[in-house]
Amino acid sequence: MRVLILGNGAREHAITWKFSQSRRIAGLFVAPGNAGTNSIATNLPHVNPCDPQEVLDACQGFRINHVFIGGEDPLAAGVSDALIEAGIPCIGPRRKTAQLETSKAFSKAFMERNGIPTAQANAFTYFPAFERVVRERDHRLVLKKSGLAAGKGVLESDDTDEMLAYGKSVLETDTLVVEDHLVGYEVSVFAITDGITHQLLPCCTDYKKAGDGGTGPNTGGMGSICPVPWLENTAWEQIQNEIVEPTFTALRAEGLSFVGVLYFGIMVTANGPFVLEYNVRFGDPEAQVLLPLIRADFGDLCEAMTKQRLSEFSIEVSPKSSVGVVVAAKGYPGVYDTGIPVTGLPTDDSALVFHAATTERDGVTLTGSGRCFTVVGRGKELLDAMNTAYAAVGSVRFDGAWFRSDIGGRIFGN
Ligand code: AMP
Ligand code: GLY
Repeated sequence: MRVLILGNGAREHAITWKFSQSRRIAGLFVAPGNAGTNSIATNLPHVNPCDPQEVLDACQGFRINHVFIGGEDPLAAGVSDALIEAGIPCIGPRRKTAQLETSKAFSKAFMERNGIPTAQANAFTYFPAFERVVRERDHRLVLKKSGLAAGKGVLESDDTDEMLAYGKSVLETDTLVVEDHLVGYEVSVFAITDGITHQLLPCCTDYKKAGDGGTGPNTGGMGSICPVPWLENTAWEQIQNEIVEPTFTALRAEGLSFVGVLYFGIMVTANGPFVLEYNVRFGDPEAQVLLPLIRADFGDLCEAMTKQRLSEFSIEVSPKSSVGVVVAAKGYPGVYDTGIPVTGLPTDDSALVFHAATTERDGVTLTGSGRCFTVVGRGKELLDAMNTAYAAVGSVRFDGAWFRSDIGGRIFGN
């Protein structure tokens, strides 16, 4: 197989690393890639992953026969549609299906008409109607920008003035979704699908807030663990029976089936699990902890997906645990600098270090994003994995580097 991965984040580094271990790989390319993928694949730094024609040209130029789309932006730009039309097998849905992620208004309506448990919500395009709901409410609300926001378009609040100001700013450019605030703990559930059937992978947890103890603003995710030892069997069964199965039935019924990964962001509450959001790709940082536990050859697995042979494929998973800690730049999730020199990247393989948007100049690695690295430890138990990750994370040094110190601990609300 000659595989192209689209993206430059730590998730795409993990996907590239997983492919690099496949016995099926004859060529491995990443567009644009980062300083981490550069050592295990060929980076195509000048190919814009969100430009369908540039991606098609790269496929032709490098005789690519499988494309793995890492993140949501190329999906929103219709790259998958272009590849499917050109007959190039790809992992990732068409733009129409990607609305499950790219439009919260679309995904809420999908859940409501198909009876999938989710927080009660309303979509607004007009400020006075929204203002009335905020002023008449008797409980905490969650306000969401409908379009893509890299995990940062959500406000949880019970302060009227804060909500009105936030809602007003969203309504200037987008639809505003307002929903009831759910209380519980969050899990990220991943199903891979070949368009006909699907298989579930072990559950992960993403630590969404910037601060220890689940405090501070929302981020794209400051750390992750896999599996989640506190997820009860009953909740896992309800997730499968009341959420995953009905979702795939509805996707088929509505002509939205696809080849790729469906990500269910779930809140497990005292009244059972509810869907917070769908995404149509692996999570970041969840992929960084999940993929190292998959034992199946990733080339074989992807071919089973693109050839609709997933039902014959068994995805063997390690019984180990893994913990990933994100090392972020000073200022993230607000404004931060890039191009900061990095030292101390571990060279042994006791922990895995996945880069996000890093570059290299004169042999020095430079930061390129807000969530700069994910350091992943694996171990027999969660505690062993935490110890391995935290033993390595402090050695990743750059000016202003910071990380949460409680990844792996159980926190309600994350
Ligand atoms: P979303 O982008 O919809 O997943 O929202 C981002 C984060 O906001 C979630 O991971 C939760 O931590 C929080 N959140 C979203 N919706 C709700 C809700 N209805 N109740 C409580 N927390 C929520
Ligand atoms: N970890 C959250 C996301 O990938 O959307």
